[in-house]
Amino acid sequence: MPAPYLSRRDVLRAAAVIAAGSALPSWFTAGAADPNPVSTGPLSPNDRPGILLVGCGGMGTHDLSLAAKFGDVVGLCDVDAARLEKTSQLYPKARRFADFREAVRTAGTDVVINATPDHWHTLVNLAALKAGCDIYSEKPLTLTLDEGRRLVHAVRSAKRILQTGSQQRSDRRFRLACELVRNGRIGRLQHVITSLPSGRQGGPFVSAPVPAGLDWDRWQGQTPALDYVPERCHGSFRYWWDYSEGTLTDWGAHHNDIALWGMGLEHSGPVTAQAVPLLAPIPGGFSFPSLYRVEYTYANGVTHTCQTVVTEGPGGNVLTEPILPGELPNGVKFLGTQGWIFVSRLKIEASDPGILQEPLTKRKVILPVSDNHMQNFFDCVRSRKDPVAPVEIGHRSVSVCHLGAISLRLGRTLRWDPVRERFPTDAEANGWVSRAQRAPYDYAHVA
Ligand SMILES: NC(=O)c1ccc[n+]([C@@H]2O[C@H](COP(=O)([O-])OP(=O)(O)OC[C@H]3O[C@@H](n4cnc5c(N)ncnc54)[C@H](O)[C@@H]3O)[C@@H](O)[C@H]2O)c1
Repeated sequence: MPAPYLSRRDVLRAAAVIAAGSALPSWFTAGAADPNPVSTGPLSPNDRPGILLVGCGGMGTHDLSLAAKFGDVVGLCDVDAARLEKTSQLYPKARRFADFREAVRTAGTDVVINATPDHWHTLVNLAALKAGCDIYSEKPLTLTLDEGRRLVHAVRSAKRILQTGSQQRSDRRFRLACELVRNGRIGRLQHVITSLPSGRQGGPFVSAPVPAGLDWDRWQGQTPALDYVPERCHGSFRYWWDYSEGTLTDWGAHHNDIALWGMGLEHSGPVTAQAVPLLAPIPGGFSFPSLYRVEYTYANGVTHTCQTVVTEGPGGNVLTEPILPGELPNGVKFLGTQGWIFVSRLKIEASDPGILQEPLTKRKVILPVSDNHMQNFFDCVRSRKDPVAPVEIGHRSVSVCHLGAISLRLGRTLRWDPVRERFPTDAEANGWVSRAQRAPYDYAHVA
């Protein structure tokens, strides 16, 4: 018998695989009531929180357009005057800031949308917590494992709400896939594949004059002070070790988050990580490997492969067909003893149609329901309950990515203790739990 709780298998066996991207099973959509709802009703004009956006780039302005439905935009902050000016045109009443420390302390700021590059996430979040703000922080939540531990502690000490910008947690397809796996629908889970877009292969790049209005020193923050290179800055910072960890954190923060959710290990992590680069970066160019593969093992025996998709570029939202033989498209595949489920932003499919179509009548595990990630955050700002992607989960999800990245750096298999969050007896690997922070942009900057 392929999975528990199935009764009309023969009727449904006609097709080997079904794609349900546009039509989720009715039993799932009809029964989508949150067992623990947080919404306290529609917002009245009087309880619209004041919103500050820190980081007025592509994602920040998108996030703000969603957040502005639930609050009033009172502040905008960026270290690039041109970006600040452009976003100000959309929100002319909002005050403008170059220093987020001043911005978070300004009266009327209740909520911070943090859409800075990855190397700034933690310091901005710590400053926002110190000022008493709730936070919607973009993924990947941190630059290092140590930042994540500090952030978890700071959020809980300050009793603030933090929603990680892992919006796949508020996507019904991903929730359906994880709920089915968690309830044994594909039998005993054996292996997970997270398939990420490839990064960028480019360079060597040359330095250029710093554009007028960009505070390049502040943009670099805690990272080493270097000459300005346009490809290091806006948007493409994610393909450099200094500021990020390539698509391993950019997309891995999404898909490895789903892997942990499906495994039920979202407060834990792997016990080994073994990463290999599949293409050497060009000297003087983007420094994080554009193609790589990481193999993880977990204490419960589940194995996990996180790999790049050669045929898909870094944007990653569009599935390119055909894929190479054996290559899995951008998404997450759960393989169990009684079948498999593949889920992406485009579709959900399974080895047998019944896996998706048969109602889960005896759910041991009911996952929290959110169909709108930003609304879930604002609901929680009012209810003071945990959002669907709280700080611990954001930290653990990106920890999977950081472990792979450290293995890539060191070129060997690492053993990890997910309880102590240390590498047992591996001083060199433990040296990468944190990174040296360039003064004055260290923790003292926001103390
Ligand atoms: N959830 C998602 O699906 C998703 C999608 C895209 C990006 N993101 C995340 O959003 C973040 C931003 O990505 P992006 O593509 O918009 O980058 P971007 O480079 O376009 O924008 C970042 C902005 O932050 C500004 N900035 C840098 N340091 C700052 C500081 N100290 N104070 C204030 N502003 C500062 C930059 O000048 C820039 O305008 C990244 O962490 C990325 O991973 C998430």
